Amino acid sequence: MVKGMANLKPNNGQRYRRLWGRAKGKPLSVYQSGLVETNLPALCIDVKNPLAGLKSYDNIHMEVGFGGGEHILHRAAEAPDTAFVGVEPFLNGIAKTLAGIDRSGLTNIRLHHGDVWHFLANLPDASLDHIDILYPDPWPKPRHYKRRLIQEDLIGEFFRVLKQGKELNFASDIPSYVDWAFVRIFRHGGFTWNAQSCADWQTQYAGWPGTRYEAKAYREGRTPHYFRFVRELG
Ligand SMILES: C[S@@+](CC[C@H](N)C(=O)[O-])C[C@H]1O[C@@H](n2cnc3c(N)ncnc32)[C@H](O)[C@@H]1O
Repeated sequence: MVKGMANLKPNNGQRYRRLWGRAKGKPLSVYQSGLVETNLPALCIDVKNPLAGLKSYDNIHMEVGFGGGEHILHRAAEAPDTAFVGVEPFLNGIAKTLAGIDRSGLTNIRLHHGDVWHFLANLPDASLDHIDILYPDPWPKPRHYKRRLIQEDLIGEFFRVLKQGKELNFASDIPSYVDWAFVRIFRHGGFTWNAQSCADWQTQYAGWPGTRYEAKAYREGRTPHYFRFVRELG
């Protein structure tokens, strides 16, 4: 288990889960540490009341595991009337994104430094207009599949918090993860995949800036795939 991260109880109260992956990388620069100390508290979501301070926005988007923040910073600049909530347990990713917010002056990003389950616990039903889960940690060995972020109960939570007709976007370069996610999303039954041809999953999302992980996938010869699922009535 990641040091400093407590096991978290999902709001269905059924079981505790572990957070896999890195909580910290190399030491932060003085500038980054300063941002974490001074700027992060004001941008942090209050998980007991996650929509506090977001009511004035037209839409609320969530990005789960935003890594270095390339995508969320780009989307927030594109849509200033939308609130972007980024959820990320990796401190260095938080620090990088804080630096991006500081340099750009963006005011429509909020952060949760921790597990997505923690953020979702008190989030009301049908409160989000979009969810991105871009290149979740692959955990390619079958014995580690249980560590994958996408699991049946998380898909159930995405269905609960997403508004009807809105999109869950999932990108991955790992064929076994794509299969894994599809089986679970279809089994849930609350999402539609409207692809007409393979061009659909080979085509990047509109305005896509790329991410750090994606650049690595290309360098290492893996092909990214982009999926758009629509949350149906339910
Ligand atoms: C492979 S990286 C991809 C980062 C970024 N989306 C990109 O494309 O560059 C996966 C990210 O998911 C984050 N992550 C892992 N478990 C998570 C969880 N339970 N809740 C939220 N984020 C999580 C990791 O810390 C990591 O930054």
